[in-house]
Amino acid sequence: MPLLIKNGRIITAQDDYFADIYCENETITQIGSAIDPSTLPKETEVIDASNRYIFPGFIDPHVHIHLPFMGSNAIDDHESASKAALVGGTTTLIEMICPGPTDEPLDAFNEWNDLASTGCATDYTFHMAVVRFDDLAQSQLKSIVLDHGIASFKIFLAYKGALNLDDSNLFDLLTMAKDMGVITTAHCENADAIDSMQTKLINEDKTGPEWHEPSRPTNIETEGVHHLSTFAELTGTHIYIVHTSCAPAVQAAIDAQLRGVNVWVEVVAPHLVLDETYAQQPNFEGAKYVMSPPLREKSNQATLWNGLKSGAISTIGTDHAPFSFAGQKDMGKDAFTKIPNGIPSVQERVDLVHTFGVLTGKINLNRFVKTCSTNAAQLFGLYPRKGSISVGADADLVIYDPNAKHTLSVDSSLSKVDYNAYEGWELTGRSSVVTVRGQIQAQDGKFVGTVGRGQLLKRQPTH
Ligand code: URP
Ligand code: ZN
Ligand code: ZN
Repeated sequence: MPLLIKNGRIITAQDDYFADIYCENETITQIGSAIDPSTLPKETEVIDASNRYIFPGFIDPHVHIHLPFMGSNAIDDHESASKAALVGGTTTLIEMICPGPTDEPLDAFNEWNDLASTGCATDYTFHMAVVRFDDLAQSQLKSIVLDHGIASFKIFLAYKGALNLDDSNLFDLLTMAKDMGVITTAHCENADAIDSMQTKLINEDKTGPEWHEPSRPTNIETEGVHHLSTFAELTGTHIYIVHTSCAPAVQAAIDAQLRGVNVWVEVVAPHLVLDETYAQQPNFEGAKYVMSPPLREKSNQATLWNGLKSGAISTIGTDHAPFSFAGQKDMGKDAFTKIPNGIPSVQERVDLVHTFGVLTGKINLNRFVKTCSTNAAQLFGLYPRKGSISVGADADLVIYDPNAKHTLSVDSSLSKVDYNAYEGWELTGRSSVVTVRGQIQAQDGKFVGTVGRGQLLKRQPTH
């Protein structure tokens, strides 16, 4: 059905103005002052967006939904995770495909894509994790990029024996990525150093979740960023450091940027608003806050926010990795190394950043849109179809009430996880209406749309 949104304050990465938006056949077809409804088809639905912002649909560039990992399977499916995303204003998800070390990449792509195509209510694409790099893998990876439109890789320097790629394969992959114009996203923590430090801590009977952070300190992450940046410098390829958690790692990336290396930086919502004390809570409660890289000492948060403000950091994702407390996190009761890593946040991201970033003056509204939507669209080949409010763009729109107060709780969460890491937090600002290609998919905290409506977004290499 055609849709007319009247009287809203349109905020994009660069503009801030009042206008009406008309959407037809899934796209934005008119933006103008006082569009007259009588000139439009009579079935047009009209929404009054007075006192509301209108943002381009938010993009989460880093989620895990289908995730066999650390002896368990993430508990969300594409239906639950995408519903959660939509009520929180996110209309496009970029999910990590994470196969096991012996799996064939093409099988993994088909497995993830089949699941997403039936369940996803947002549009979606993937970063393809490279965990093996033999001849078969190389030819299949090329096909995944060229035939299936997945124009970004993911590599892990961490998770020894499960996901990490050794240096010679890493160098060859980055060389191939450069030749193909593909950007490589990367988890930068040194797997061997973590393995040794974890073994030592466990042998000393330091087994609780509070030991997770000391087992992978900031210098291990910083070394990873420097290491990957050096390989990117040598190969000339574009890299994107995911979930950067601390000041020294950001500094290592900035140092590389200043040397002319093509390095882009992501932060994720948990690192912006939670700190290491959450993982230090007694009675194993801290397990809810175990993720990697770990939650850090609070002073790091200022650097992350300042990096977003200055542009040194490009994007805010979530690293949504949904594992319940009962039956999953508690697998690590006797050893923190067995706690499945992840802090689910796909529903909360946008409102957390609005409350703790925009309303505190750390970033302005344009920067909010840039870091939560437009920059991801530009880096990953989705722009201007996504991440913009412009004629011809997909009608993915978020009508946002900046004054709405709400309290985060597991009860109102659409994820299947049995806890909310932000339980009881009072936020200001919430999505009133969320559209995906012109159809209303969420309204006032409720999913009202169609499951499986999401489309795979095919992308061309752009780097
Ligand atoms: O703790 C995390 N980050 N879990 C998901 C896997 C990853 O490293 O992104
Ligand atoms: Zn990671
Ligand atoms: Zn991740």
